[in-house]
Amino acid sequence: MSEFDTVIHGGTLVTAAETFAGDIAIRDGRIAAIAERIEGGARRLDAGGRLVMPGGIEAHCHIAQESSSGVLSADDYYTGSVSAAFGGNACFVPFAAQHRGQTIAEVIETYDGRAAPNSVLDYSYHLIVSDPTPTVLRDELPRAFERGITSFKVFMTYDLMNVGDAGLLDILTVAKTHGALTMVHAENNDMVKWMNARLAAAGAIEPKYHAVSRPELAEEEAIHRAVCLAKLVDAPLFVVHVSTRGGAAIVARERASGTRLFSETCPQYLALTRADLDRPGREGAKYICSPPLRDEATREALWDHVAAGTFDSVSSDHAPYRFDEGGKFLNGLDAPYPKIANGMPGIAARLPYLFSEGVAEGRITLQQFVALSSSNAARVFGLDTKGSLMPGFDADIAIWNPETRRTMRLEDQHDAMDYTPFEGMELTGVPETVINRGEIVVADGELKAKRGRGRFVARKPSGRSAARGHVAPEFAAARAYGTEIAP
Ligand code: URP
Ligand code: ZN
Ligand code: ZN
Repeated sequence: MSEFDTVIHGGTLVTAAETFAGDIAIRDGRIAAIAERIEGGARRLDAGGRLVMPGGIEAHCHIAQESSSGVLSADDYYTGSVSAAFGGNACFVPFAAQHRGQTIAEVIETYDGRAAPNSVLDYSYHLIVSDPTPTVLRDELPRAFERGITSFKVFMTYDLMNVGDAGLLDILTVAKTHGALTMVHAENNDMVKWMNARLAAAGAIEPKYHAVSRPELAEEEAIHRAVCLAKLVDAPLFVVHVSTRGGAAIVARERASGTRLFSETCPQYLALTRADLDRPGREGAKYICSPPLRDEATREALWDHVAAGTFDSVSSDHAPYRFDEGGKFLNGLDAPYPKIANGMPGIAARLPYLFSEGVAEGRITLQQFVALSSSNAARVFGLDTKGSLMPGFDADIAIWNPETRRTMRLEDQHDAMDYTPFEGMELTGVPETVINRGEIVVADGELKAKRGRGRFVARKPSGRSAARGHVAPEFAAARAYGTEIAP
C-alpha cells in the first residue's frame, strides 16, 4: 500500500508568498508533504504546465437565503457549492440570516438543514444579525461563537435589516469580547430613502435609477461612520463589497494608520459599470445590486486599490435571483427599481475573472491572486487549516491551466440562474481540477463529488481579528474621570 493517497506532480506551486516547482502528497485529506520530487501515491495527478494553488475560499455569497424582502436566492447549497467548485473554490462561507423575531439557534438549525445534506464543498456561515435583542447579545451570539461561527454581519441599510448605530455598537462589543469579527454592509439608509422619494416623485423608476438612488456618498459616509463606531469600542471591522473611490480611500487610510480594518471588493465593481443598468428594456434589472455599479473611473480606481493591497479579498457577493417573477421581478415584471430584487450571480466567475483581468493582464501577481482568492479569507475568518499549501493543512487545492482561453456563457454555468452578468467575457485561465480535503470535486469538466460530502468548518477567532484584550481607550478609567464604564 502506498504511503500517500494522492500525489500531484510536475506542477508549479503557488502560495501567497512563493512560486516554486514541486510535488504535493496528500494523505487522509491533508497535505502530507511538499518536495521537489515525490514518488509513489495510490493516485498520481500530472500537473505539468499547470499552476497548483490553494483552493479558493468564497467568503461572501448568499446561498439558500431569504433576502430582507423575503425572496429566496435561486441557488441552494447543492447548486451553489457545485458552481463555486467549478469556479475554483474548495470552500465557501455563505450567510445564515436572522430575520426579526428569529432566535439565533433557529437560524443556525435552519441553515444546517439546508447545507449539510447538499453541499459538495466544506462550508461555514457568517451570521447576519438583524435583531440584536438583549438575549441575542448576551446569550445567543456567544453560543454561536462557541459553535465556530466567528463572524457576525450587520446592515446599515435596508429597513428590515438595519440595526442602527447603537445596535452596531452592541454587536461590535459582543464580537470584540469573544474574538469574533463584525462585517458591515455600509450604506446610509436615510440618504437612500430620501433619494428614492425624490426619484419616485420625478417618475424615475427604471432599473438605471437604482444607481442614482444609492449615491457614492451614501457608501462613503456609512463606511466612515462604521469605522468610527468600531474604533470607539476598539473592535475589528470588515467592510464588505466596497464599490467607491471614497470608500476605498477611507479603508486604505485607516489600514495605513493601524486600524484593525479588513475589506473586500467584488468582480462586478471591477468589471461592470452603471451603463449596464441602462441596457434596453428590463435588462438593466440583471445588474441591480447594492451598493450599485459605479462609473468607469471608479472601476479603474478600484483595480488600483486591489493592486495596492487595500482589500483583503475579492469576493463574489453571489446573490442569485432569476430574471423572472420568482426572482428579480417578485413584485411584477414592471416593478419600479426599489422593488426589484438586489443582487447578481458570480460565484463561478469570481476567480476566473480575477485571474484573467488581474494576473494575465499584469495588474496583480500570482501571490496577490492567492492572497485575494483564498489565503487572506482563511486568516481573517479563522479557517485555520485552509488557504495555503502547507504540510498539515487540509488538501484544498485548485489546479489551473493558466493559458486556456474561453468565453463566459450561461450554458457553461452550473448554478440555478438564467443569466450571467459576465456573459460574453473572454477570459484567460481555467481551474481544471478542484480538490477539497483530498477528494476530487471537479475534474475533466465534470463534477466528481457527491451531494452532501462537504463538512461544516468550525472557525477559530483569527489571529488578525482577535480582541487585543485591553480596554478601549474611550473607556479607560483615566479618560472617564475615574469611572469604570463597561465597553
Ligand atoms: O445586492 C446585493 N448585494 N444583494 C445581496 C445582499 C447584500 O446586500 O449583500
Ligand atoms: Zn451587502
Ligand atoms: Zn452580500
